[in-house]
Order: sequence, then C-alpha cells, then structure tokens
Amino acid sequence: MGKGGFGLVFQGKYKGADVAVKEPHDPEALHEEEALKKSFFREAKNLYRLSHRNVVALVGGIVSDDCGDPCYMMVTELLPQSLQKEMEILQELDGEERCKRQDRLMIELAEGLAYLHSAGIIHKDIKSQNVMVDTSGSPKYIDFGLCKQEQVTTSTASTRLAGTLYWMSPERKRGGAASAKSDVYSLGLLLVYMLTMAKLPEGEE
Ligand SMILES: Nc1ncnc2c1ncn2[C@@H]1O[C@H](COP(=O)(O)OP(=O)(O)O)[C@@H](O)[C@H]1O
Ligand SMILES: [Mg+2]
Repeated sequence: MGKGGFGLVFQGKYKGADVAVKEPHDPEALHEEEALKKSFFREAKNLYRLSHRNVVALVGGIVSDDCGDPCYMMVTELLPQSLQKEMEILQELDGEERCKRQDRLMIELAEGLAYLHSAGIIHKDIKSQNVMVDTSGSPKYIDFGLCKQEQVTTSTASTRLAGTLYWMSPERKRGGAASAKSDVYSLGLLLVYMLTMAKLPEGEE
C-alpha cells in the first residue's frame, strides 16, 4: 500500500475484513534498538486509546511469529485513498462540488486534530503523506510513530529532531519541543496545500 521512513505497509485480511499491516523496514534493528522499539509501542498504545472518525482505527498488533521469535507488525483499518490522490480527483470536479468536498476534508482534519489535542496527544508528524481518506470521504490521520503525550516530557524530546522539515514549525526547527501549536502550524501548511495544490517537496525525511 505504501511506505514511509519507518515501515512498509501491506494489505491484509483479518476476520474477513481488509486491513493494513505495517512492518518496520528493519525488524532486527527494531528488536535491538530501544528507541525504535519504543516508537513502535508508542504508536500502538496511543492508537489503542483513541477513537475518532478522523483517526485511523487500530485492529491489533503482532509481536512474535509462529516460532515465537520477535516480529513487530501493526494492524489497522485499511484506508483506500491517499490525501494526495483524493486532491487530484477533486481537481477534476466542477467548482461547487469540489469546494464542498474540499471544505469537508479541511473541517474534519481540524476536528481530528482538536480531538487528538483534547486527548493530550501531539501528533508531531502532520503532513500530506500521513493523511488517508476512507470510503465515505472522511480524512484520517495515520502514523502515530512520533506522537507524544502532552504531559509526558522525555529527555530526548527537544534534543532529537524527528519529523519532516518542510512541515515543521520554526520553533521545532530551532530545537524547541513539539506542542499542540506546532501541530496546528503543520495543519496550516496542509490546508494551504489543499487550497492551492502547491507542489510538495519529495522524500520523507
Ligand atoms: N491504514 C492504511 N491504509 C492504507 N494505506 C496505509 C495505511 N497506513 C499507511 N498506509 C500507507 O503506507 C504509508 C506509510 O505508512 P506510515 O504509517 O506513514 O509509515 P511510516 O511510519 O513509515 O511513515 C502511508 O503514507 C500510506 O501510503
Ligand atoms: Mg508516515
């Protein structure tokens, strides 16, 4: 289905339903490197307690294979469309219909982010590649690998810069900690992209 800086995503079936299965690029490194392992479990734990129309739903996770050896995979609902593809499709529609669907996407993205912040979650990696669209046309945030809980401060939070530079707020680029405000900045860029279809920089990091 796609790939990001952390993993590859495959389509799978679970109890008859289509699901997305995310596997790290380097499962062995994940087993050995504490920071990577933490990011995998952080994503799973945070998704587990979130439930919102605009946030991908967690189905489950896999931490060992048939032989009992460690293997790390995250299973979520399958989302058929990337935001980028959805925006390309919208460009083909006539003005009124396009504005209506575009408005809905933008409003729901704001609602989804308000929900995350009300649950104390800072996403930290909001960008076009981390938004998918479901069959009913609702956008959903995916990729909670970098997210953090607002109340929890870790010693590495402000020293290790993680995310994607283009989408990052100026204070984060200067090494400041991520906050709800820095997520709002990234959402702002996303809305500008959606309104103007500005060309986005290539690449993940
Ligand atoms: N639930 C999903 N349904 C369909 N495709 C998905 C899903 N989750 C991720 N993808 C695809 O896989 C890509 C990488 O997933 P992501 O969770 O962002 O991984 P990473 O942490 O490596 O960035 C996404 O940009 C998207 O194209
Ligand atoms: Mg991603």
